[in-house]
Amino acid sequence: MSARRPELTTTSTTARRPWWATAVTYQVYPRSFADSTGDGIGDLRGITSRLDHLVDLGVDAVWLSPIYVSPMADAGYDVADYRDVDPLFGTLADADALIAAAHERGLRLLMDLVPNHTSSAHRWFVSALAGAPGSEERARYLFRDGRGAGGSEPPNNWRSVFGGPAWTRVTEPDGRPGQWYLHLFAPEQPDLDWSDPQVRAEMGSVVRFWLDRGVDGFRVDVAHGLVKADGLPDWHADAPAASAAPDADGARPPMWDQDGVHEIYREWRSVVDGYDGDRVLIGETWAEQDRLSRYVRPDELHQTFAFALLQAPWDAAALRRGISDSIATAHEVGAAPTWVLSNHDVVRHPTRLALSGVADLLSGVLPTDPQPDPALADRRGRAASLMMIALPGAAYLYQGEELGLPEHTTMPASARQDPSFFREEGRIAGRDGARVPLPWSADEPGAGFGPGGATWLPPPDGWERHAADVQARDPGSTLRLYRAALALRRRLDLGGGALTWAEGFGDDVVAFSVSTPDSSVLVLATTGEPVRLPDGGEVALSSTEIMGGLLPADSCVWIVREPTS
Ligand code: NOJ
Repeated sequence: MSARRPELTTTSTTARRPWWATAVTYQVYPRSFADSTGDGIGDLRGITSRLDHLVDLGVDAVWLSPIYVSPMADAGYDVADYRDVDPLFGTLADADALIAAAHERGLRLLMDLVPNHTSSAHRWFVSALAGAPGSEERARYLFRDGRGAGGSEPPNNWRSVFGGPAWTRVTEPDGRPGQWYLHLFAPEQPDLDWSDPQVRAEMGSVVRFWLDRGVDGFRVDVAHGLVKADGLPDWHADAPAASAAPDADGARPPMWDQDGVHEIYREWRSVVDGYDGDRVLIGETWAEQDRLSRYVRPDELHQTFAFALLQAPWDAAALRRGISDSIATAHEVGAAPTWVLSNHDVVRHPTRLALSGVADLLSGVLPTDPQPDPALADRRGRAASLMMIALPGAAYLYQGEELGLPEHTTMPASARQDPSFFREEGRIAGRDGARVPLPWSADEPGAGFGPGGATWLPPPDGWERHAADVQARDPGSTLRLYRAALALRRRLDLGGGALTWAEGFGDDVVAFSVSTPDSSVLVLATTGEPVRLPDGGEVALSSTEIMGGLLPADSCVWIVREPTS
């Protein structure tokens, strides 16, 4: 049998346990959640009107992807004004109303902070373009002279995560071709220079602005990217642009996971700790596994997303490794583990887990790519979700996964919006397939996304089958499975439990117990053959029907072994 020695792992149960250590947080992608105006784009009033869905689901917190003023070159991850709401989504008053409505329902609310880059429409960048090379205005960004004759070549060979060079040349105010500026993402997202004191002061002030409005914390975008290596040295031209992996000599990419980022998080942590109510910072840190714990040292971020499960194929050994690694990483520094299967940047997990060949999660699925078997996707998606919800620590759900939504894998090119599709000239699908507006009501136009039925991305055929209202009535639906699993997780306090690997099951089974002082739940997820259930205990939940004591292939079950007192 593979390396599956029993291993005891615990989350902190003795010390006072903050809410976020075991919370289930639901990511709202505002433009695709619910539309109140009929323009086909989701908005803040739409979100507020649907908060009860989240209460019924049983989550603890909501993380809102960006709602700030933005030209929407990257769907809001290009911020032009961090202190106001884009008219597409509503007003600052709508944001205040949403925060209040969430709090009234006992839900915490986290904002998305985008500190690595601004929009090219931000007043700072506009004045940098008007300023001279070497000016104070340019010092807030990474402007450099080009290489080669007349500075016509980019200052280094870095590539944008969205394809193409990571540099764009500007036209100087006198009309001549001039300096270049760095953008690790789209040209409309110029990277800030975090060695500039104004940048630090401004972003600290933005953090306080929203904390003062009552938000419970932030998800920090590209948290591993803010600081770049001195001198901006070239990197291997063939290394994937988004990868923080070291090269064969152990050198690490100069644009990711630089030690200087930690000082920033220490500063923010002290700001956040100055507020009441256990506010939280959670980092999007695509760093190497062995460097992740650095971000969650006691005086830095509270959590980072552990992307181990999100990157694992439907393979029991890979899933076990992902779970072990994430727990070990968190425990190195006394942090709670986190879990995530899907978000707005990657192929939705039911589809991903049914496609063995999706090499790059960010590439999406084109109509010309191999297509998933919908039944298999549904089955594996439900099994993976049930397994994740049992794990100790904090879990992050992406809107629509509670409806079992698959990726839209047949979206026509004419409907696509993601800049990565255009920067790669259509060679990859990009992320639109994970961002299709949610189906709320099967019988309404546009599956009830908003009045009139408009949707900013077209849904795939049969989308209404997944509608929340249909699923709420169907005891076998994925929505009902999520509700039941989250309720039991809460009742048994699985988030605060201890995980022990269970012995005696085959290599194709992820088998573990989660124990608390009052109960123990055995979780079995099989990625291969059906599994005979052990004697004892009570089947509390299963992702597919169990018949004759057999857990079918591609399924997960929770067996409560000791009832709660
Ligand atoms: C990560 C966000 O999740 C993604 O959507 C965005 O495109 C990049 N950061 C750039 O902000």
